[in-house]
Amino acid sequence: MSDYEKETLGEELSRRGLSRRTFLKFCAAVASSMALPPSVAPVMAEALAKTRRQSVIWLSFQECTGCTESITRSYAPSLESLIFDFVSLDYHHTLSVPSGHAVEAARAQAMEENAGKYLVIVDGSIPLKDGGVYSTIAGETNVDILKHVAAGAAAIVTVGTCAAFGGIPKANPNPTGAAAVDAIITDKPIVNVPGCPPIAEVMTGVLAHFLTFGALPELDHLKRPKAFFGDSIHDRCYRRPFYDQGKFAKTFDDEGARAGWCLFEVGCKGPITYNACATTKWNEGLSFPIQSGHGCLGCSEPDFWDKGSFYKPLSTGQWGSAEGIAAAAAVGAGIGIAAAAAARSRQNKIQKEG
Ligand code: SF4
Ligand code: SF4
Ligand code: F3S
Repeated sequence: MSDYEKETLGEELSRRGLSRRTFLKFCAAVASSMALPPSVAPVMAEALAKTRRQSVIWLSFQECTGCTESITRSYAPSLESLIFDFVSLDYHHTLSVPSGHAVEAARAQAMEENAGKYLVIVDGSIPLKDGGVYSTIAGETNVDILKHVAAGAAAIVTVGTCAAFGGIPKANPNPTGAAAVDAIITDKPIVNVPGCPPIAEVMTGVLAHFLTFGALPELDHLKRPKAFFGDSIHDRCYRRPFYDQGKFAKTFDDEGARAGWCLFEVGCKGPITYNACATTKWNEGLSFPIQSGHGCLGCSEPDFWDKGSFYKPLSTGQWGSAEGIAAAAAVGAGIGIAAAAAARSRQNKIQKEG
């Protein structure tokens, strides 16, 4: 093992001049974002500081590179990037230095040396139609690569809605037979981090949890980490008071829009979308779609592309009554209360277990 591989995260951070206090603050923020009690922060800091480089094999299939852009385009140097710098990214089509046969050899070597221990990150869906011929890398179909690499993985993290649920490539009529990772791999722990693209901090949280506890975080029925996908956008939206008062923008340039009223009637899908955008936000907490004046498209939900117009209000079948927004508001308030109660009970349970 080289000195580079032997170095722990604690040694790496101190070599870079990062104080223990700053590192603890980072761990406290990650723990809090995952609804873990504050007492977990020092445990996380200690465990992370002892961690050696985690081998990561990143597979990019039928995708647009937006997910990779999202994860890597943070302001550097940030602690998030330090964490990502610290993992041993042994294979990535866009970021790996070698190319051609050399990069394929690097993947084979990482798989052999870290068999059973490496983490696989996948962005993009997997085309299955016609034997998977619609996306191949170095002469191998995506589906064959996925099966081969997943066989020796400790766990798989899907990044983005394409890998988690099929995403835009799976949109009707799905010409390539695009499928999600968990439609193909059924015998490995999988965590889905959907979003088109997903939020970088959510990936950091999942990775920090895996490095600290050696296991994936608590997941919901769609394999999404509950800490980040437990509440809907609507539950945490800063425009929610306007929704509850029945104050809605009717167009994107009317008085209501200028006053920052709720975007439900111009098509916001926040009430049926689960993601951390309203709290974590984007670009270092600067903003998120609704704050920028556009309704949520529901990009972290399965089949969001095929669920009707982005600019039509949710229908009766999807959400409340089209005739009575007040009734919808009451339903919304009820669901908000129920979601808050569920979040509290989840947090109490975690605290008791902690
Ligand atoms: Fe691109 Fe969105 Fe798919 Fe990510 S989830 S690869 S951003 S289309
Ligand atoms: Fe926010 Fe959309 Fe809910 Fe209105 S409908 S409160 S804009 S999430
Ligand atoms: Fe996507 Fe809605 Fe967030 S469109 S980025 S889940 S606000």
